[in-house]
Amino acid sequence: MAANCVARSVLILLLVLHCVHRSCCIPRISQREIYDEVRQLLALSSNSLQKDIDDSREDSSELPEASISKPDVPKAVKNWPQKDLNLGQVSGVAVNSHLQPVIFHRAGRVWDENTFNSSHHYQQEHLGPIKDDTILTLDPKTGAIVGRWGASLFFLPHGLTIDRHNNLWVTDVALHQAFKFRPGDNYPSLSFGVPFQPGTGIRHLCKPTSIAVASTGEIFIADGYCNTRILKYNAAGGLLRVIPNPPEFLSLVVPHGLALIESLDRLCVADRENMRVTCPRAGLYSTRGETEPALTIQQPDMGRVFGVAAKGNLMYAVNGPTSFLLPVQGMTIDPQSETVIDHWAPEECLPETLANEYEIWSAQMENY
Ligand SMILES: *[C@@H]1O[C@H](CO)[C@@H](O)[C@H](O)[C@H]1NC(C)=O
Repeated sequence: MAANCVARSVLILLLVLHCVHRSCCIPRISQREIYDEVRQLLALSSNSLQKDIDDSREDSSELPEASISKPDVPKAVKNWPQKDLNLGQVSGVAVNSHLQPVIFHRAGRVWDENTFNSSHHYQQEHLGPIKDDTILTLDPKTGAIVGRWGASLFFLPHGLTIDRHNNLWVTDVALHQAFKFRPGDNYPSLSFGVPFQPGTGIRHLCKPTSIAVASTGEIFIADGYCNTRILKYNAAGGLLRVIPNPPEFLSLVVPHGLALIESLDRLCVADRENMRVTCPRAGLYSTRGETEPALTIQQPDMGRVFGVAAKGNLMYAVNGPTSFLLPVQGMTIDPQSETVIDHWAPEECLPETLANEYEIWSAQMENY
């Protein structure tokens, strides 16, 4: 049962961070970007979780059948982290192979209306890179910082993904770049995009948001706030494909999060401003079917989808502020039937409480 708890705490870190600093639901610092990252928590914890579920089947025979077959629902861990971590905006969360949460944060830097001009150029290059450590490894039980690095490398952190070999993949929206860091290295072993140069060509990225890495090595970069595409590379960083590849039709408006379901050969995209999740073929094992229409999950209560995570053949998604009528919540999605099968939220975060702060939050969220 102890292992059970650890796996669970890791899984729901997102919701925990959501509730740090305040008794919850008053999104002062970084909640908007945190939504982004529930996917890795779920994706990377899925093995241990599955074991978890199997264990609980064995030792709690009186559990009703229905609760066993229901897909797992993330739950917030209370009083985590135990000490204030004094973080800036947290833009990325992932879990490494030791089930330690890893976060990517902006320290003192913020994204506001002065950060970029209308052609998406970063306007604060003169500040230099963030001098604090931006990547922190945390103890899953206590939330204490057990490792830190990433000073003087990044200008405006966004996405963080950890692959099965513990490589870290990050995006920086100010640099318009994405990077791979091998474990223990503080220089990138791969970089994508041209520093500070937004662009639409295949050498450029424009405020890239998120990365997914397949077990077969292919890399998918969501590009991003200004381009409306996903770029697919081989493990060495060679471009394989642009999704969508005209005349294919797949409209994306701020692809903000990515998650792979390898068993279905689908790459699911949090298509934020289209308020939906769409899952084109990933084309991992064959290019056949790449032009098949995407599976698309869209329903009136979804709102702007910030992040997605894969677990088995299911997708977990989190939305962000959209309108007063829509709660900020998590959803469990069955991509194959293109339906939302469950909704969830931290119990402390009742929609009524959220609504009080909603206006401020929405205002802050605008454009980020
Ligand atoms: C935005 O800023 C960059 C330099 O940071 C400049 O080259 C570019 O012309 C500016 N774009 C606009 C539309 O002012």
